[in-house]
Amino acid sequence: MAERIQIREVGPRDGLQLVATILTATQKLEWCRRARDAGIEEVEVTSFVPPSVIAQFADAAEVARGAVALGGFVASALVPNLKGAHRAIDAGIQKVNYVLSASEAHNMANVRRTTQQSLDDFRAIIDYRDSVAKGRVHIAGGIATSFGCAISGSVDESRVLNIAAQYLEMGADELIVADTVGYGNPAQVRRLMSVILKEAGTVPVACHFHDTFGLGLANVAAALEAGVRAFDSSIGGLGGCPFAPGASGNIDTEDTVYLVAALGFETGIDIEALVALRRDIERWLPGERFAGAVAKAGLPKTFTNRAAPAREYGE
Ligand code: COA
Ligand code: ZN
Repeated sequence: MAERIQIREVGPRDGLQLVATILTATQKLEWCRRARDAGIEEVEVTSFVPPSVIAQFADAAEVARGAVALGGFVASALVPNLKGAHRAIDAGIQKVNYVLSASEAHNMANVRRTTQQSLDDFRAIIDYRDSVAKGRVHIAGGIATSFGCAISGSVDESRVLNIAAQYLEMGADELIVADTVGYGNPAQVRRLMSVILKEAGTVPVACHFHDTFGLGLANVAAALEAGVRAFDSSIGGLGGCPFAPGASGNIDTEDTVYLVAALGFETGIDIEALVALRRDIERWLPGERFAGAVAKAGLPKTFTNRAAPAREYGE
């Protein structure tokens, strides 16, 4: 039996942070529904930030409620602080993906507080969840700029490990290790993820890669070798942090599924259904740059979703 990989579609959140067009809630929910129908099991459907910070997410509560009503997938949302968690949980979201940055400079630029203040907020979020939604809402701890920062340069691995340890101590249901600006390389990814996976034990760990320097999929392969079994990606390779200089798109969902399946893992995801959805998203977002090779080239004749089990990548 091939091992299963989780692909979380973050397009309706990360993918929409830098685009010029504001989609309607109906379009965002169609994105969620069709991603679900293609086999995606979790969609990060929106972001609970002030509309004055990112206007795209003024409809966050409406999208969250609509996504939960669709059913059949986990509807998660990005949350940058306690107020965002209140809003998300009160709207009925099923999972909170909290974000702070290992880089102090990026944390300050992105969420206007120190990394330690953000960690303190996380504890308050766990307490809030425990008081109103225990057993119903999962809370993931995200670590942005884990592989480097476009403001301050290199980020010490010990900082990332220390944040991961604090998240685990506070009861995070998942860790999300993010390469916000695409500075990571496969050797770095293999090394850091091996240590984090050991530290995390049975707590799931996902990687979130951006393809700024073309290393996104190489980093997925390296993370797979280290034992990571969950990844964030965005249809069409859209995405990027508005508060990180030079940020560009997430790894492309169609290509990520292709890579993972070609290596012999099971994803349960229909790549052609994703490409069909992408064609509509391309129409909804005129003038945006879409990445991804599978959508351009089609799938190779040799491709099968049932490739041989991934021996070299198994544990
Ligand atoms: N959603 C809606 N409103 C919020 C909010 C949230 N998550 N957090 C704070 N606010 C409101 C406050 O209630 C306050 O409103 P008021 O002036 O009417 O009283 C106002 O915003 C300022 O609150 P404050 O706590 O001082 O926030 P801030 O100005 O320090 O900004 C963040 C902090 C976290 C809200 C902001 O930096 C942010 O949204 N960052 C996210 C950036 C992002 O999305 N990056 C990409 C993803 S990694
Ligand atoms: Zn991102």
